[in-house]
Amino acid sequence: MKTIIEPFRIKSVEPIRLTTRNERVELLRAAHYNLFLLNSDDVIIDLLTDSGTSAMSAAQWSALMRGDESYAGSPSYRRFKSAVTALMPFEHVIPTHQGRAAESILFALIGGPGKVIPSNTHFDTTRSNVEATGAEALDLIIEEGLDPSRIHPFKGNMDIARLEALLSADTNNIPCVMTTITNNAGGGQPVSMANIRQTAELSHKFGVPFFIDGCRFAENAYFIKLREPGYADKTVPDIVREIFRYADGMIMSAKKDAFANIGGWLALNDDELAERARARLIQVEGFPTYGGLAGRDLEAIAQGLVEIVDEDYLAYRLRTSEYFAEQLTELGVPVVLPAGGHAVFVDAREWLPHIPPLEYPGQSVVAALYEYGGIRACEIGTVMFGRKTDGTEEPAPMDLVRLAMPRRVYTQSHVDYVIEVFAELNDVKEGLPGLKIIEEPPALRHFTSKFQLLG
Ligand code: F0G
Repeated sequence: MKTIIEPFRIKSVEPIRLTTRNERVELLRAAHYNLFLLNSDDVIIDLLTDSGTSAMSAAQWSALMRGDESYAGSPSYRRFKSAVTALMPFEHVIPTHQGRAAESILFALIGGPGKVIPSNTHFDTTRSNVEATGAEALDLIIEEGLDPSRIHPFKGNMDIARLEALLSADTNNIPCVMTTITNNAGGGQPVSMANIRQTAELSHKFGVPFFIDGCRFAENAYFIKLREPGYADKTVPDIVREIFRYADGMIMSAKKDAFANIGGWLALNDDELAERARARLIQVEGFPTYGGLAGRDLEAIAQGLVEIVDEDYLAYRLRTSEYFAEQLTELGVPVVLPAGGHAVFVDAREWLPHIPPLEYPGQSVVAALYEYGGIRACEIGTVMFGRKTDGTEEPAPMDLVRLAMPRRVYTQSHVDYVIEVFAELNDVKEGLPGLKIIEEPPALRHFTSKFQLLG
């Protein structure tokens, strides 16, 4: 097969309302140039996130009807737990309403002032949940991971030497080491099996537990199959099981690689920590056999976990981002290379060199994509990460714009349309303005900040 086709047929559709550029100029102004403040029915192609935006399969929709909504002991929980442990063999699986709830429960128990939690790169909610306890969220990504144009097969890898230096200095204040697969904040870049193994071995040598943020585990596993010597003949489920065998626990958002619209979990082997996590879960989410979810959500996740490790799906999935990145590269739009799993990341700092980081080149691209094409993307740069906990501001390591692909939702012609809009922007990019923030909350400012155009 020469063309890698979408390996599904469409049974049910959602119409897209087409807007005009004039309408969008007004809508953008009314949303204060923050795309999170738009109504989604005013968006033509929504690439804000791949989280919770998947199209469910016919099998998932039918699984919903099996959902048992009992408060305690639901068979839906048992099906959910077996689906999770078939891939991630942990003793305790604690459902939560989404990934950040699992983060909040875990870090409330193991974080705290003076603690340091190293990771390849914490995503924004993970960082925020760590910092909310007074602990420090430390990113130890390899150098290649910070250079958008540098080709490396596993740009999400942890810098093992820096991790070793940190652990050798003092382990008393390090309650766990984490790795995020794939590395969302760094461009959806995968982590190699060798790096996961080394990170786990090093952590264990120093007696520190190793946790995985597994949001996009299946995409990461397929990258390992494609790129890491020794894995080409292994099945994706086997690769996934190997990844999680090295870990003592995981946090997960089922809104990504479980094809669910909501859900998550915390899974771990430590009985005592699991007990404390369940006590906290009951306070903030729900009884341990449903967490913050309905029984039907647990069923959708259980079925989604079967479908996500399908290799025809994963081949199509990774090819989508690769095709997208190839086309943008051909236009001369700088993107993080190689393409990540769930998204294409445009290097806005490089593309719009006339806009300094503190005037948010990423936000400028995001606003222009909406104005010109009705496309919604997400800034991952100085708006998201530039504000420090002491309230001061400095440029983030990179100013990226993420075009995240919802799973099984858009077709190749949607991608081609987005590429056409980039071609149009390429002709006017020198005139795109920077922005300033006129109102911002104390934390996670990208969600609600209001902007004004400069110039
Ligand atoms: N960890 C990673 C790596 C993530 O990408 C996300 C969410 C979370 C944890 C939190 O999970 O949303 O279920 O609470 N990322 C979304 C995104 C929001 O758009 O990348 P959640």
